[in-house]
Amino acid sequence: MRYSWDVDTPDRTDPPAAMPPAAMPPANTPPVTMPPATTRWETLTAGRSGRSYADRFARLAATGVDLHGEATFCHALVAGGSRVLDAGCGTGRVAIRLAELGHRCVGVDVDPSMLDVARDRSTAVRWVLADLAALAMPAAFAPPDDAGAPAATDGPFDLIVAAGNVIALLAPGTEAAVLHELARRLAPGGRLVAGFGLDAAHLPLPATPFGLADYDGWCAAAGLTLERRFATWQGTPFETGDGPRGRGDRPVAAPGYAVSVHRA
Ligand SMILES: C[S@@+](CC[C@H](N)C(=O)[O-])C[C@H]1O[C@@H](n2cnc3c(N)ncnc32)[C@H](O)[C@@H]1O
Repeated sequence: MRYSWDVDTPDRTDPPAAMPPAAMPPANTPPVTMPPATTRWETLTAGRSGRSYADRFARLAATGVDLHGEATFCHALVAGGSRVLDAGCGTGRVAIRLAELGHRCVGVDVDPSMLDVARDRSTAVRWVLADLAALAMPAAFAPPDDAGAPAATDGPFDLIVAAGNVIALLAPGTEAAVLHELARRLAPGGRLVAGFGLDAAHLPLPATPFGLADYDGWCAAAGLTLERRFATWQGTPFETGDGPRGRGDRPVAAPGYAVSVHRA
């Protein structure tokens, strides 16, 4: 089973307002840190979809859909009271549930509209406005209450989860840097759990931005080893045509979604 929120194209909102022309800095001004690159998520949503994203989940919950598959999956991998980073936490669905289950959670997202909803929902999670590609940088683009952000995200974490297509929705070209940033925050033996679509039917994008081999390569370069892979958060085996045969000895269709567990 896959989750509809993994594949829905986010509600479109007005295009972002035009940026005012940049003023020339005075001479001898120190170099300014580059702002974060635009994520695919921001390109899709203009950074304004927090409330509509949360409302969509609320509607799903009202129909009886279990919204906690990712949290349940992660909870089963770690000991009680583990340190967990929800990378690309959005409106906090996964981190809040993991905190309810007794874990010490930090949620990081670069989209203020998503994080605003998360903050309204729970004070049991430490929420941090930051770019996953630059977690070590001072939170130069964060509001004052995030001044302690780098410390909160330092870890080490027993588990880092990137649910809901986060990796596929990073800024193009930043994937290797993000995997590096996440890997160095894992405790020895800690796990990175990421779920994302492998085709357009499972992504809010017209085409998949990269393949599993790319993802595994970035993880390997960051020092992570693939431990297990599933086709759903409910633990459906990840089987491709290269593996076990389907009924009538036909090749099994490659899954359109992967939940990957890498270990430090
Ligand atoms: C589809 S939402 C998933 C939210 C949440 N993980 C969930 O499953 O409900 C993808 C999220 O990834 C976040 N994201 C993408 N690139 C990011 C980056 N470089 N740093 C931090 N967050 C990022 C987006 O802002 C967005 O909130």
